[in-house]
Parts: sequence; C-alpha cells; structure tokens
Amino acid sequence: MKQKGLSSFSEKRIWVIGASSGIGEACARALIAAGAKVALSSRRTDRLKQIAASAQNEQTYILPLDVTNETQLQDAYQAILNSWGGVDLMLFVSGVYTPLRADDFDIRVAEKTIDANLLGPMRAVALILPEMLRKHSGHIAIVGSVAGYSGLPKALAYGPSKAAIINFCENLYYDLLPTGISVHMISPGFVATEATAQNDFEMPALISAEVAADEILTGIQKGEFDIHFPKRFSRFLKFLRILPYPIYFWIVRRFVKI
Ligand SMILES: NC(=O)c1ccc[n+]([C@@H]2O[C@H](COP(=O)([O-])OP(=O)(O)OC[C@H]3O[C@@H](n4cnc5c(N)ncnc54)[C@H](OP(=O)(O)O)[C@@H]3O)[C@@H](O)[C@H]2O)c1
Repeated sequence: MKQKGLSSFSEKRIWVIGASSGIGEACARALIAAGAKVALSSRRTDRLKQIAASAQNEQTYILPLDVTNETQLQDAYQAILNSWGGVDLMLFVSGVYTPLRADDFDIRVAEKTIDANLLGPMRAVALILPEMLRKHSGHIAIVGSVAGYSGLPKALAYGPSKAAIINFCENLYYDLLPTGISVHMISPGFVATEATAQNDFEMPALISAEVAADEILTGIQKGEFDIHFPKRFSRFLKFLRILPYPIYFWIVRRFVKI
C-alpha cells in the first residue's frame, strides 16, 4: 500500500504553521503562486501580512498564533473550519533552535524547545485529525531535521526534539496509512534562514529556503513519507547512523568542529 500524493496545489486548502520566515515563508509563497488557498500562521502578524500581499483577494487567511498556546491553535483551526470546512494539507514548519551543550545545560531552554518543536506539532495534529479521519483524506507534513537522526554537538535540546518528530511521524504513518491520510516527514539539512544566520561555522551543503521549499512541495506531491534533502548531505547522515557507535562518534569528533 502506498500513500497518496497531491496532484496539484491549485484551490487546495493549506495551513502553513511557521509561515513568517525561512522555509515556511518560501513554502507559503510557492503555494500562493501555485493557486492554493493558504492559511498563514506564526506569531509575527506583520510578516504574515507582507506574504499575503502577493496573493489574490481571499486566497490567504492570516491566523496569528503561538504554537505553544493550545487555545490560540484551537481558535485558528476553528476559524479555518468555519471558512473552509477543513484543510487538505497541514504543513507544520515552525521550530526554534538554541545552541546547547552539556557544560551549560539550561533546562528552561530545553522545556521551551520541546514545547515548540514537539508539543507544537502534536497539538496541531490532535486538532486536525478528527476531521481528516471523518473524510478519509488529508495530508500531514511536519518539518523535523537531519539533526534528529543521531546525536550531534550543540544540540542537547534541539536534537531530542527533532528525533522525537521522526518517531512521531513514523507512528502517524503506521496508524494513518489504512485511513487514506498521508504523512510527510521532512528532514532538511542546512538551509540559509534567520535560524542558521547565527551559526559561526561553515555549513556543509547549504541550500536556499526556495530550494528547500521546492524539495518539500515536490515530495508532498509525489506522496513521499521520507522527504530529506539535500541528498548529498542527508544520505551521508543516514549512512552514519547505521555505523557502530565508536565509529560514528569518531567521525563526528573528527569532522564537526563546532
Ligand atoms: N534552517 C535550517 O538549516 C534547518 C535545518 C533543519 C531543520 N530546520 C527546521 O525548519 C523549520 C523552519 O526553520 P527555519 O530555518 O526556516 O527558521 P526561521 O526562519 O527562524 O523560521 C521559523 C518559523 O517558526 C515560527 N515560530 C517559531 N516559534 C514559534 C511559535 N512559538 N509559534 C508560532 N510560530 C513559531 C517563526 O515565526 P514567528 O517568529 O513569527 O512566530 C518562523 O515562521 C524549523 O522547524 C527548523 O527546526 C531548519
């Protein structure tokens, strides 16, 4: 059994959470250009309005929210239900990254990271699932990271949050395949955005947010579960994680100088 793709985005009802910058903004702009109806969510309303300015009248819906606030998510989804009757695709891109090492482990940073990166998508999925299950259709796409594949430096909270997203998506895929709902697990490598602008090291295989958006939307159209890119980097990391730990840790220590 293979899960369904989305043949065209035109007229599809799509909720992009984390649409105000970076990968989410690039996806939102590409979806608007493809003729989709796009609900734009994140905290910075001004940025969402700028993105909506490129759209036709009534093509976009601005729904500001914080993914750590369940009531705001519920209110936004209720507004979508009232206007559109549901969503065909929920694309959860929102995420936060704070570099964190064991010699300066801050539990408050860890709590905030898990709240935004893991519980945020879980809250959104819990909201949209009942209607999708009733209709036996829909697409759930969540942006994780190749940083979730295995342990890396400076990722003491971010890494676990993204590793859990991989497990969450795998579980969703198992459960939802027979129901007609498609699940897309998205694992980007380095993408040039506000989040990575803080990095003080050379990022291997760095790509633009527009290239990342193209990879994501093409993968969703094809019905892919495991959307990872750029392949020259993500395939190498997939290979590393099947190595025995001593070899894996040796390679990471030798080549990752951060
Ligand atoms: N860039 C990379 O190299 C890379 C690599 C792998 C994975 N990723 C993942 O890709 C996703 C997008 O990252 P990006 O690089 O595009 O970063 P970005 O430019 O900083 O964008 C992050 C987005 O998340 C939103 N957001 C953050 N916290 C939020 C909250 N509490 N509630 C609602 N929205 C929130 C931000 O909007 P507001 O500030 O307006 O709320 C913004 O739209 C993240 O999940 C990230 O972990 C990125």
